[in-house]
Amino acid sequence: MLRELTAPSGLAAEVEEGLIKLPRSLPCKLFYDGAGSALFERITTLPEYYLTRLEHQILRERSSEIAETVDENVTLVELGAGTAAKTCTLLSAVAVRQKDVRYVPVDISKASLDEARARVSRQCPTVCVQPAAIDFMEGLEFLREIPGRKLIAYLGSSIGNFDPEARVGFLREIREEAAPGDCLLLGTDLAKDPDVLLPAYNDSRGVTAEFNKNILRHVNLEFSADFDLARFHHVAIWNAEELKIEMYLESTCAQTVNVRALHLVLPLAQGERIHTENSFKFTQPTLSAMFIAAGFLLDRTWTDQKRWYAVHLARV
Ligand code: AVI
Repeated sequence: MLRELTAPSGLAAEVEEGLIKLPRSLPCKLFYDGAGSALFERITTLPEYYLTRLEHQILRERSSEIAETVDENVTLVELGAGTAAKTCTLLSAVAVRQKDVRYVPVDISKASLDEARARVSRQCPTVCVQPAAIDFMEGLEFLREIPGRKLIAYLGSSIGNFDPEARVGFLREIREEAAPGDCLLLGTDLAKDPDVLLPAYNDSRGVTAEFNKNILRHVNLEFSADFDLARFHHVAIWNAEELKIEMYLESTCAQTVNVRALHLVLPLAQGERIHTENSFKFTQPTLSAMFIAAGFLLDRTWTDQKRWYAVHLARV
């Protein structure tokens, strides 16, 4: 009974379970506090982090084709829109074909949405922006309330941060909340030579290392923990069997960490790792299987010349 009364719920329970269970882990959503989001923005501009650059390039080159492929009079709904940095190209292409364009950027961060609205108003002044400050990972029911045809964009290969089962579940939920005729625009990073992949997750300026370690700072603040960031080392490895980059924080010495809010005392051995993120990379077969399992009909795929990155249009 006492255990029930004091048992942590939600995020706290997830953190507790991850830290107790071996091998230890932390949920990657903890990356994105204010400092973590700013570090991620820096990652997207790094020379080694080709994902954002290539996606942007594909959208620049293919936006008119994308707009032609979807029905006329669509509302663009962007999940995890952030500051809408790469959306204006697409919005401009849609605006060529239809008079009234509506853009619904969805993000948990109100500050990012304010920036997104300002950016779109500057760059595509005819577009009507209706931001939605929602944690869409908690549910996608709000999609039903957006009237008319929708083009639902989920970019940046964020789908790669889900485990295979969870990503099908998430896409299936999008499909269930969407209406027949709606489309999904999905960005995915493709499997490639680890000599290209690894530097993208272990850059020469150390920004990804800082981003990874920031998760400990977030846990310190949120759960009164005393992780000493200097006693951890950023590790990124390529798992060729499961086609994913795995990120860890490796303890550089034997140490004990207290997580006071969770009543946890963690003994960490030298070299022991805390898993912080999976970033799956896709192949044609894994993509086809994913769309089929989620109930989408894959219509078009656009890639860059080297076939490092792909943007897909799938229909409900
Ligand atoms: C947000 N997500 C798609 C990024 C990725 O590439 O998996 C997160 C990231 N982790 C390290 N660098 C970037």
